[in-house]
Amino acid sequence: MKNFLAPSILAGNHANLSDALNIAESDGRKWIHLDIMDGHFVPNLSFGPQTVSDLRKKSELFFDVHLMLDNPDLYIDAFAEAGSDLITIHIEPNYNHIETVQRIQSLGKKVGIAINPSTPVSGIIELLEQVDVDLVLCMTVNPGFGGQSFIGDVLQKANQLKQLRETSNKKFLIEVDGGVCPEHVKPCLDVGVNIFVAGTAYFRESSAGRSVFARSTGEEI
Ligand code: DX5
Ligand code: ZN
Repeated sequence: MKNFLAPSILAGNHANLSDALNIAESDGRKWIHLDIMDGHFVPNLSFGPQTVSDLRKKSELFFDVHLMLDNPDLYIDAFAEAGSDLITIHIEPNYNHIETVQRIQSLGKKVGIAINPSTPVSGIIELLEQVDVDLVLCMTVNPGFGGQSFIGDVLQKANQLKQLRETSNKKFLIEVDGGVCPEHVKPCLDVGVNIFVAGTAYFRESSAGRSVFARSTGEEI
């Protein structure tokens, strides 16, 4: 399975988000992580489909779009139309998860399911049995803000997902998101993590530091 570092654009300058996009592109990154927040599911607001669409016009990067919304089912078409490559929805809010996964797939997009730190893997087992998702996102902070501290306990969930992937012959990638710093990469790799979302720790590094960070994940540079 391929590994990637996915810079989180939430940590960029929101007066000119394309700056962060350009940094990731010039560093040779392949993915960019875009956090969409509604102020309900998470206590923060970020940006919407128009921003994604405008950024899409400026970049060929793989858009890993993370919907932290109470009703993501209402916005799938808008974010697919805006140019998302992968759309991740959370299991916690009450909407039809299976239908929403199938809608994302019907629009030709890859799909992820996200679980918050307090949500056990058992909370998505039924969904994983019913549909083939491309990615499982294990939040390593309580969602809403960048710059928080990494919650190490989440790694036992990643390990459970790694074992489930092996025994069920599923092909989903495992992503960690929130507070990820270079020192977290090795322990995460040991439990099968493939995608490392990093905002604060990525953009505060120098160019050389960012490349070392990306290479440590196993990303082919
Ligand atoms: C938090 C977001 C994360 C966040 C990561 O709710 O889902 O993607 O932007 O940012 P850092 O790496 O700054 O913690
Ligand atoms: Zn995110």
